[in-house]
Amino acid sequence: MSANKLSHIPKTIVLVGLMGAGKTCIGKRLAQRLGLPFVDADDEIEKAADCSIDDIFELYGEPAFRDGERRVITRLLNEPVHVLATGGGAFVNKETRRDIKETAISIWIRADIELLLSRTGRRANRPLLKNTDPRKKLETLIKERYPAYEQADIVIESGHESPDATVEQAMAGLEDLLLSTDPSMADSKR
Ligand code: S3P
Repeated sequence: MSANKLSHIPKTIVLVGLMGAGKTCIGKRLAQRLGLPFVDADDEIEKAADCSIDDIFELYGEPAFRDGERRVITRLLNEPVHVLATGGGAFVNKETRRDIKETAISIWIRADIELLLSRTGRRANRPLLKNTDPRKKLETLIKERYPAYEQADIVIESGHESPDATVEQAMAGLEDLLLSTDPSMADSKR
């Protein structure tokens, strides 16, 4: 594992990408690596609504979920610097994307559809993949959402390598981005 070349992280790091891309898994490890708190937006939405995401979709519908998602993420972006894993639809919302672009550093975790299918198939906890053909649904989401995800500041690939290898890609992306914009951010103790 290479050392952290950065003296500090100036902004919250937001992980975006489709369901099953590994936002929570990579986010937790990246937070640990950077010594920052980790927050999962979906958990925060559930806490705020006192209701599971499944139940929010079922009882109130997707528009209500999206509304809550937008409000919770706006709140989280105003909190001290942390690593934030968002749900797959969050960065597709224009206002949320603008807020993230203005206040945070976004990382898109890209993954192959076969990997997304196998990861999301392990648990039946995603309302958008219920009562439908998950492959077709994911193909549709890829078409609809990739133009938004492509606007992230950093893009990394999650494949069959270890989560630590994916975290290394995120670290390298952050170092490139931050040191190119502000060289004084290099860790002088190194
Ligand atoms: C969604 C993704 C889910 C969750 C909700 C909707 C989406 O989060 O927010 O089920 O629209 O892609 P994950 O991406 O963490 O699975």
